[in-house]
Amino acid sequence: MTEPAVPLSELRGVRRTFPKASGGELLVLDGIDLRLESGEIVCLLGRSGSGKSTILRILAGLLPPTDGEVFFEGKPLHGPAVGISLVFQSFALFPWLTVLGNVELGLEAQGLPNAEIRRRALEAIDLIGLDGFESAYPKELSGGMRQRVGFARALVVHPRLMLMDEAFSALDVLTAENLRADFLALWTQRKLPIDTVLLVTHNIEEAVLMGDRIVLLSTHPGRISDTIEVPLARPRDRFDPAFRGLVDLVYSRMTQTPIRPSAVPIAEALPPASTSMLAGLLETVAAPPFEGQADLPVLGERFQIEGHEFLSLADAARRLGFALLEAGDIQLTPEGMRFVGCGLDERKRLFAEQLLRHVPLASHILTVLETRPGKRAPRTRFQVELEDHLSPEDARTTLNAVTSWGRFAEIFAYDDQDEAFSLDDPG
Ligand SMILES: Nc1ncnc2c1ncn2[C@@H]1O[C@H](COP(=O)(O)OP(=O)(O)OP(=O)(O)O)[C@@H](O)[C@H]1O
Ligand SMILES: [Mg+2]
Repeated sequence: MTEPAVPLSELRGVRRTFPKASGGELLVLDGIDLRLESGEIVCLLGRSGSGKSTILRILAGLLPPTDGEVFFEGKPLHGPAVGISLVFQSFALFPWLTVLGNVELGLEAQGLPNAEIRRRALEAIDLIGLDGFESAYPKELSGGMRQRVGFARALVVHPRLMLMDEAFSALDVLTAENLRADFLALWTQRKLPIDTVLLVTHNIEEAVLMGDRIVLLSTHPGRISDTIEVPLARPRDRFDPAFRGLVDLVYSRMTQTPIRPSAVPIAEALPPASTSMLAGLLETVAAPPFEGQADLPVLGERFQIEGHEFLSLADAARRLGFALLEAGDIQLTPEGMRFVGCGLDERKRLFAEQLLRHVPLASHILTVLETRPGKRAPRTRFQVELEDHLSPEDARTTLNAVTSWGRFAEIFAYDDQDEAFSLDDPG
């Protein structure tokens, strides 16, 4: 593929902040340099809240960066770009319009003659496998077919750049796999009227299946932490050792920079993970065939949860000192092995020890409670404090995690009704 001197799309030194409700600014993206070349599929992988959708909106010209520059086709972009289409997780299709009507809508703004609009809409419908469904209404279609209408609506304008925001993640496994395979076949045969694709995803396997290049985004703030080339020919075989090797590599790079350490230790975001899921994870790794060490992707397949939830779970085990994550493997620490081997009371004691040793927020809550006259503090006291460093969502997730862990460990109590922490006897 020829590589032009000028990339199709480019971000240079992009920074983006959002105003916080409590005042001040939340830094979401920092120092983002990204070049998208003609002819490539780039996958952007990152945890929830790392700023992936924000990057897409900036690339499309739908949101200006706070600092830095955005280029499309070599020119600075200062508003919605012509020549860029977006595909979302699910589409708001107009229920009163047929498939054809919904796809034609994508072209309405372009002022083409009606016959040309019709011709191109039928062509896009044909291409994406909706032939025969032109006059069906959205309610008559399955989720997968509706998503195909969304793709057709994005393709009909013949965009040079297609931005996909988790375009496959709302579909069931089989439907998603079919749509990916169809899309990749068209891409490989160069039948798609697009030059470049940027696909945002949580799913490591999907990134290795689809991308020529995988860009990893760290969290708090979102920064590009790594770029991994995928030099595999298409169609790719998930069971090919080279494919597995790349999945392992991405896993290990992602777990190396799990959540960016905060300058303020109590404000380090915590991954959502219930104590029962954590116990399940540690027990599974301890048991045969793993005996204390497991390949993360292999282990992930045993858990009926989404890839990013599984990573959060593994990350929680690491944060609590129950496991090490290295080179795409999880390995239980002596404390992790001890946890699995003991009964509930001992587990709670060990959990409390690990929590107070490794999670500064937990000891912080305890200290605050101990120094308060009534040994009580409202949840908002900590929510507000965390929001100085984290987004409101991340602050909530982090507080939820520490609350459920602290309750299990019985280091403090939490009253759901009053939304307050206390040192009341948790029993
Ligand atoms: N308009 C906005 N106002 C305030 N905060 C925002 C706004 N848009 C995004 N954010 C915040 O920016 C951060 C990044 O959001 P973004 O949606 O880009 O993340 P993401 O990586 O796409 O997450 P997910 O994987 O959950 O879709 C989040 O903390 C979010 O709350
Ligand atoms: Mg998003």
